[in-house]
Amino acid sequence: MPRKRPAAVERLDDARHEEITSGLVDRGFVVVPGFLPREVVTALRGEGARRRAAGEFHAATIGRAGNAQRDASVRGDSICWLGARAVTTPERALVAHLDALCVALNRALFLGIAEFEAHYACYAPGAAYARHVDRFRDHDARVVSLVLYLNDDWRDADGGALRIYATRGAHAPACELAPRGGTLVAMRSEAIEHEVLPANAERWSIAGWLRRRPRPERVAGW
Ligand code: OGA
Ligand code: MN
Repeated sequence: MPRKRPAAVERLDDARHEEITSGLVDRGFVVVPGFLPREVVTALRGEGARRRAAGEFHAATIGRAGNAQRDASVRGDSICWLGARAVTTPERALVAHLDALCVALNRALFLGIAEFEAHYACYAPGAAYARHVDRFRDHDARVVSLVLYLNDDWRDADGGALRIYATRGAHAPACELAPRGGTLVAMRSEAIEHEVLPANAERWSIAGWLRRRPRPERVAGW
């Protein structure tokens, strides 16, 4: 039986879920500092480092399934899918938070989210990810994109900002976000273009996508 969470924790979660819901509806993206407690973020970073040392990371690809390609000039991070291997205690804590977020988003916005996928990402100094949207052209399952940053003591001089564009093709970014540990960003997967600028330090995160069952005949949008 899951233990009942203290009322204060539940109220905080409810407030965060409302903030994320209204941010997605009003702007298409939202930034939530302190989404997870610092000790969970530090533990997740430790898990990521341990998995990388164990050889569980590989170079990220672009495109989907049969079309996946490596091109470090477009995308230079290396990744490790969560759930591909035994999930550890801090990873379970994250999964519990994401489950609760899926329930709240479905309740408020009827998004039909059925599952999520997530991976650790580590950008070596100089690595970047060119401007893109997260939903694949040929597959509309991804509804909401999440990035949780795992960097303690990130300084602005370290670079590595996430640039978010409010509309497709917009010239100027709407937001330039430093990847500080504990900050979560949520974006509509089909609508929000974004890019990762190169950093001077190793840049760690977990990226996740809340997915509905794919329906190829469906017209994109929500
Ligand atoms: C991604 C992505 C953004 C970031 O993995 O698709 O856009 O800030 N990540 O790491
Ligand atoms: Mn992305």
